[in-house]
Amino acid sequence: MYEVHIVATWMHIISAVYWIGAILFTLTVLGPVMRCQNTGIAIPIMSEVQGRVRGIVLVAIFIFIATGTFNMYYRGLMDTEVLFESSYGTIFLMKMLPVAVMFTIYFSAPYILKRRSPSSKGVCCEVEGGPKPVGKVFAILHIIALACGLLIVYLGVMLRG
Ligand code: HEM
Repeated sequence: MYEVHIVATWMHIISAVYWIGAILFTLTVLGPVMRCQNTGIAIPIMSEVQGRVRGIVLVAIFIFIATGTFNMYYRGLMDTEVLFESSYGTIFLMKMLPVAVMFTIYFSAPYILKRRSPSSKGVCCEVEGGPKPVGKVFAILHIIALACGLLIVYLGVMLRG
């Protein structure tokens, strides 16, 4: 049981490193570089990069759910008394709020961006003459996701006691 907990926690942390790392890379490197390119080049590259990153993050989300559920069981959080009446349970529930925000952003971002500008293909770049800019919305969604990710890591580490 202890060994499974260690492996599960390791996979949980590696998934967090990947997701938060991908957000940081997008915000600080990929987005700014792509903003300086013309849309004919930027949109296909961004679509390809985003497609790959989102595919791997989807795997990470499955890993979070599987390993997180195992660790909930390992820490006794399946017991509603522990979940709702202990300080450990309270921190865990606080952690689940930014997790829900991060998951919601992941699944809704392409629709939000496409609704603003269908020809943006749901990725960051501004389309010349497009109806509404999407780059700013893309950046704001990533900044909110980053803030949630950093808060989740803080609360996750607090769970260790
Ligand atoms: C369904 C979603 C999730 C569930 C059920 C879940 C559950 C848990 C649980 C139960 C722990 C405590 C483990 C322990 O005490 O040993 C934990 C720790 C942690 N979680 Fe999550 N988690 C989820 C999503 C996430 C996400 C999205 C991130 C980051 C982006 C994340 C990052 C962490 C980190 C960094 C720790 C601390 C690990 C450690 O220091 O041992 N979790 N999580």
